[in-house]
Amino acid sequence: MWIIHNSLHGNSEQISKTIAEDLKDGYDVSVDSIKNISPEDIAKDAPYGLIIATRIVAFRSDNEIREFIKNMDRVITKPISKVAYFSTHALGWKNFFIKGMKKTVEKAECFEEICPEFLEVKMEKAEGPAVEGADVKIQEFISTLREFMK
Ligand SMILES: Cc1cc2nc3c(=O)[nH]c(=O)nc-3n(C[C@H](O)[C@H](O)[C@H](O)COP(=O)(O)O)c2cc1C
Repeated sequence: MWIIHNSLHGNSEQISKTIAEDLKDGYDVSVDSIKNISPEDIAKDAPYGLIIATRIVAFRSDNEIREFIKNMDRVITKPISKVAYFSTHALGWKNFFIKGMKKTVEKAECFEEICPEFLEVKMEKAEGPAVEGADVKIQEFISTLREFMK
C-alpha cells in the first residue's frame, strides 16, 4: 500500500504517518512525498491500495498532487484496487475544497474502487497543530479504511 502527500508544513505528512503506523500490522505500507518519488515508482510497485493526502491551497485541492495522479494514470498498467483520500486545511471547511480531488480521483482509469468516505482535518493554523478532537476523527477514518481495504 502507498500513502502519498505533498506536505509543506508537515500536517498531511504527520497524518499519513499515523495512518501508515496503524495499517502496518496488516499491510506493507510505504509513505512518501510526491517531491521524492515519481509516478513510475508507484507503478513499479503495483500497489493494492493508495491513500492520497490533499492539502487545501487557495480554496482548492492542491494542484500538484492532482497533477501527480494524472501522471500516474498515464504510467500505471495494473489498476490500483482500493483508493482513499483525506485533506487538511486551516480555514472553515467548505465541501467544494475537495471537489477537484474527487474529480481527479474519479477520472483516473487506473483506480478501481474509491472509498466513499473521506477525512478532513482542520488545523489551528497553517503550521498546525490539528484542532482538538482531530485524533478521534483520524482513528475513525482508520477504522473505515480497514473495512474498505479488505
Ligand atoms: C499558500 C497557502 C494557501 C492556503 N489556502 C488555504 C485555504 O484556502 N483554505 C484552507 O482551509 N486552508 C488553506 N491553507 C492551509 C493549509 O491547507 C493547511 O495548513 C494544511 O494543513 C497544509 O498541509 P501541510 O502541512 O501538509 O502542508 C493554505 C496554506 C497555504 C500555505
